[in-house]
Amino acid sequence: MAITRNHNSNPNPEKRELLTTKETNQEQENVEESIRPHSFDEYIGQQDLKDVLSIVMGAAKTRNEPIDHLLLYGPPGLGKTTISLILASEMGVNCKITAAPALERPRDITGLLINLKPGDILFIDEIHRLNRLTEELLYPAMEDYRLEITMGKGQAARTRSISLPKFTLVGATTKVGALTSPLRDRFGLIQRLKFYQPEELALIILRTAKLLNTAITQEGAREIARRSRGTPRIANRLLKRVRDYIQVKQLDTITDELASKALDIYQVDPQGLDWTDRLILETMINQFNGGPVGLEAVAAATGEDAKTIEEVYEPYLLQIGYLNRTPRGRVVTSAAHQHLGQTGEEQLSLFEE
Ligand code: ADE
Repeated sequence: MAITRNHNSNPNPEKRELLTTKETNQEQENVEESIRPHSFDEYIGQQDLKDVLSIVMGAAKTRNEPIDHLLLYGPPGLGKTTISLILASEMGVNCKITAAPALERPRDITGLLINLKPGDILFIDEIHRLNRLTEELLYPAMEDYRLEITMGKGQAARTRSISLPKFTLVGATTKVGALTSPLRDRFGLIQRLKFYQPEELALIILRTAKLLNTAITQEGAREIARRSRGTPRIANRLLKRVRDYIQVKQLDTITDELASKALDIYQVDPQGLDWTDRLILETMINQFNGGPVGLEAVAAATGEDAKTIEEVYEPYLLQIGYLNRTPRGRVVTSAAHQHLGQTGEEQLSLFEE
């Protein structure tokens, strides 16, 4: 299977390098590739989704057709790209990877579509951010495998229709509600990725540690898993940070005690909250009486980007019951108060800096 990445612009230049955001440089990308599972047998977790995809793939293979267009949604880091790559590999086709912000001009999407081979997968990340022209080019491409190109302007405008091979569009988004309904309706399958259970993350960490030639105990893996916010990308990243720690300390095996010490240094607390999570919660408590408070107000008070709060930080805080969303705004729960109370001294230091 050939994988083509269309990186003609950084999809999110404003994103800071945090433990919770994507790594971007080539070396990190190569490590990511080496630890990515390559088949559904190797892929841990998301069992419901794997069951659905197994039926869809089986049926498509029997009919000798590509699988239906698939929309994957859920918080970042849960494996949307990996699933798309595995689908391509298991169907024996190529996977072209791009992201909506890289599809600025109509010729960006037409170039990708024209070069597809029968059955290929086109993966578009952050699909809710497509511009209108690109989205309108996708409608006939998805529905009838046709590219409708308009040449010239005004009365002289002519439309040319070019036939495309049958392909599968896999769209990925953190915000399914932000898709227009005509686009959403063109996906035959809409599937949500869920946060992973700690036991699943521990298995992922053990698998990755083996691939990285790093010795780790079961308890060490569990300790990292517990702090990984239900997210494999974070689990693997924390594993690499703990590996750095034991290397510098000239130790050879990651135990729970060492994992815990290392992650404390990186300010990832026992619930997996990092400095920014705590800043968000503390700001809501100290400046807004715990809420209800609007997203924009939290963003302004913390200096964090509203989108990043909404798409990166909030989903996990909502999932573990530290935040509630009400019609009047976000509210910090008593569970969050209790958690922050337990690590109170550390929290105060946030505001003293
Ligand atoms: N690495 C990242 N995600 C994974 C998963 N779901 N299974 C196995 N290894 C992974």
